[in-house]
Amino acid sequence: MSKPVLLIILGSTRPGRAGQAVTEWFTEQARAHGGFEVDVADLAELDLPLFDEPNHPMTGNYVHEHTRAWSARVARANAFVLVTPEYNHGYPAALKNALDYLNREWRYKAVGFVSYGGVSAGSRAVQQLKQVVTALRMVPVVDAVAVPFIAQRLDESRTFRRDEITDSAAKQMLDELLNVGTPLAPLQTTPDPSS
Ligand SMILES: Cc1cc2nc3c(=O)[nH]c(=O)nc-3n(C[C@H](O)[C@H](O)[C@H](O)COP(=O)(O)O)c2cc1C
Repeated sequence: MSKPVLLIILGSTRPGRAGQAVTEWFTEQARAHGGFEVDVADLAELDLPLFDEPNHPMTGNYVHEHTRAWSARVARANAFVLVTPEYNHGYPAALKNALDYLNREWRYKAVGFVSYGGVSAGSRAVQQLKQVVTALRMVPVVDAVAVPFIAQRLDESRTFRRDEITDSAAKQMLDELLNVGTPLAPLQTTPDPSS
């Protein structure tokens, strides 16, 4: 039987972002976990324009190729992990933009969060994200990876300094994404732009 597809979305886009190192570490954890086929979407590489579709995404009636490509990528995923920094007690605009582009592609899929920041470990960003993902009918899991003082977590080569606590949090969240996500599978339908 094929494994469920986990799409990891890297939400920070600025040059020199810590998010890249965090995402590289988490991607290794997800691959080592073995429960998922892992895909990674870097929003900097994806380079979606500011939301520019004329129709509500719920219609699935997309006029731009960049939207169709993003739609196909998200539709084939069964679960998501959003990797997010905290900017001004919220989450990055690029992440909201990427979420707003689509609708039915997100539905009834489990979502987990890897957050980082200063003392808050990105927790305020995650609380805000939970409001948005539930509006899209995603199902957030409680287990999460939250990394405080991110600047101290990068070594001289800007690699994430992992430890047993981060790795164990990642495994717990991945396990929970399977626990919560697997029973949701029958509800997940591929969007049909004609309906
Ligand atoms: C515009 C901006 C706003 C920030 N606001 C917060 C904040 O509200 N809380 C926090 O913990 N860290 C904040 N920081 C510090 C970030 O946690 C830190 O710079 C982190 O590396 C940002 O993620 P990135 O490197 O992937 O962009 C902010 C950083 C930037 C650039």
